[in-house]
Amino acid sequence: MSARRNFEWPELLTADGRGIAFGGDYNPDQWSEDIWDDDIRLMKQAGVNTVALAIFSWDRIQPTEDRWDFGWLDRIIDKLGNAGIVVDLASATATAPLWLYESHPEVLPRDKYGHPVNAGSRQSWSPTSPVFKEYALTLCRKLAERYGTNPYVTAWHMGNEYGWNNREDYSDNALEAFRAWCRRKYGTIDALNQAWGTTFWGQEMNGFDEVLIPRFMGADSMVNPGQKLDFERFGNDMLLDFYKAERDAIAEICPDKPFTTNFMVSTDQCCMDYAAWAKEVNFVSNDHYFHEGESHLDELACSDALMDSLALGKPWYVMEHSTSAVQWKPLNTRKRKGETVRDSLAHVAMGADAINFFQWRASAFGAEAFHSAMVPHAGEDTKLFRQVCELGASLHTLADAGVQGTELAHSDTAILFSAESEWATRSQTLPSMKLNHWHDVRDWYRAFLDAGSRADIVPLAYDWSSYKTVVLPTVLILSTADTQRLADFAAAGGRVVVGYATGLIDEHFHTWLGGYPGAGDGLLRSMLGVRGEEFNILGAEAEGEPGEIRLSSADDSAALDGTTTRLWQNDVNVTGEHAQVLATYAGEEADEWELDGTAAVTRNPYGSGEAYFVGCDLDVADLTKLVRAYLAASSQENADVLHTVRASADATFDFYLPRGKKTVELQGIEGEPVILFQTDREEKPGSYTVRRNGVLVVRR
Ligand code: GAL
Repeated sequence: MSARRNFEWPELLTADGRGIAFGGDYNPDQWSEDIWDDDIRLMKQAGVNTVALAIFSWDRIQPTEDRWDFGWLDRIIDKLGNAGIVVDLASATATAPLWLYESHPEVLPRDKYGHPVNAGSRQSWSPTSPVFKEYALTLCRKLAERYGTNPYVTAWHMGNEYGWNNREDYSDNALEAFRAWCRRKYGTIDALNQAWGTTFWGQEMNGFDEVLIPRFMGADSMVNPGQKLDFERFGNDMLLDFYKAERDAIAEICPDKPFTTNFMVSTDQCCMDYAAWAKEVNFVSNDHYFHEGESHLDELACSDALMDSLALGKPWYVMEHSTSAVQWKPLNTRKRKGETVRDSLAHVAMGADAINFFQWRASAFGAEAFHSAMVPHAGEDTKLFRQVCELGASLHTLADAGVQGTELAHSDTAILFSAESEWATRSQTLPSMKLNHWHDVRDWYRAFLDAGSRADIVPLAYDWSSYKTVVLPTVLILSTADTQRLADFAAAGGRVVVGYATGLIDEHFHTWLGGYPGAGDGLLRSMLGVRGEEFNILGAEAEGEPGEIRLSSADDSAALDGTTTRLWQNDVNVTGEHAQVLATYAGEEADEWELDGTAAVTRNPYGSGEAYFVGCDLDVADLTKLVRAYLAASSQENADVLHTVRASADATFDFYLPRGKKTVELQGIEGEPVILFQTDREEKPGSYTVRRNGVLVVRR
């Protein structure tokens, strides 16, 4: 495995190079040059100090195969730099020019039915196409030669959301590359046959030239899940390789500027294995789009918690979020009062040192014309632009107070995330198609907040051994090695919490045998002291059938009385001599499914630690009861507030953000206020009233 790249953070054009980066995607090529000076005037007014430039500009830079035009880019970079605004310069490969598709239609990806994806949008290229790669790397080199020493270009913004539109490619290029990938990974065809379990349905391969990609086979539930999982890994690896090739083409000419690419960790997606990607950038960046409704802030914090872990606690970059509505949902709600500023400050509270938006000026045409921006269609005399200016000023205040470079204090609980389990839960061959690892991570995250505690989200592949508790929600895949790490962690005094669909299969999608959850050849089972025989699946829309089963507490706490499961129950026996049953299934519905009195939640001592089994799905409210009773019982925090701490050797900052609609009264807060957004300082020292979507930041 390659070593992680050094952490390097792009400098600003301030006297000491420091400050919180603030700005957004800037697409001056959508506008006539007459408007550029006005853009810069407004950027200065808003306190913008950074833009991401040329993301979709390949066709402008190379209008035909043998013509290059850097004039416009030179002019705008110059104008920006002279105004004190640095540029994250894109490799500009997110969209390819139409002339390239004309002469080389073979660079287009294909869908699973074998149809070419049409040109005309973005990422319409196959990462395994050697022809495409050659054109893309030529462009990268040209950009590096031209701007490698430009003092205003301080970071490389590679591609854009790799995989957004070409995550899966079923082209012939992909087929060939997949065969090579399988050969590298497995060495012999026997090993691959073994891994994919090809004796099932007589699919044994005689050589790597018989390896297929999982193109449409009649129905998605007919695809070999092991093959599909490898194809997901392969797709991730090919895009990562493509990114690295672009990066290295630039680095050969311009080795001393930091590289990043914007990840997509938000609401409904976390589609790449970012635990691997994070090692290949100098600083990690994310595009975060909000989830409207009561979980808005919780979801933001949850996504950011994963970003903070990917950044190994170093500051990270919000490359995109929205000032208000997006334009790609069925209904595009705008942000509520205060949320434009609050969301940005929430990202800072969670460890971000750069706050950027898609995009600077709202487009007048195209697919995203109705997406919000920093300068809306109505121009500068708008509430929205005034909020953008207010935000710029707040970020300046935070930077002056010394927030930049401080690190987010960690909690003692890690919820473990695994991209592979996320991919595996999408297989259409599982007992339920309603599994969703990422959403279960989020539900557990919210439950900890509701219990007045805060968890971190850590990739399973990283080192989480310094935490006190690790939670594994729907970590479907557990390898022997990972199961052993969990056992070692518990043996040394840690607490492991295993969710209902965790540890059922190995890394080849083979079911662990001998009783669920059998990960590590039964090691997980014996840690838990339970043995599952069957799954009980609910949620079918069958008329008159019970849709839920109640739990009854089995210890004195009565904490889980009345909690309810609606999707998945494990029919288990308790096998651990010292295992304690904390709740059972109860009532008529449980009886009908032969679950009455069956253990639903258990705790088993293991070495110096312990292992909990949560054998069924629970909603956030019920998970909260569980967390409060057993996992964060001593927690003192006010559950109405998201409280984070960022600290360095020089300073400590506390961030307080109300999570819900309620105004929050805070008392006994130490330190000097730095930000009072929708917040009043009361006469009594240390007392504050923080209204909905408000933010209080104090410096201790
Ligand atoms: C991102 C993308 C941007 C813009 C934005 C709209 O996925 O990187 O270019 O499309 O979404 O929300």
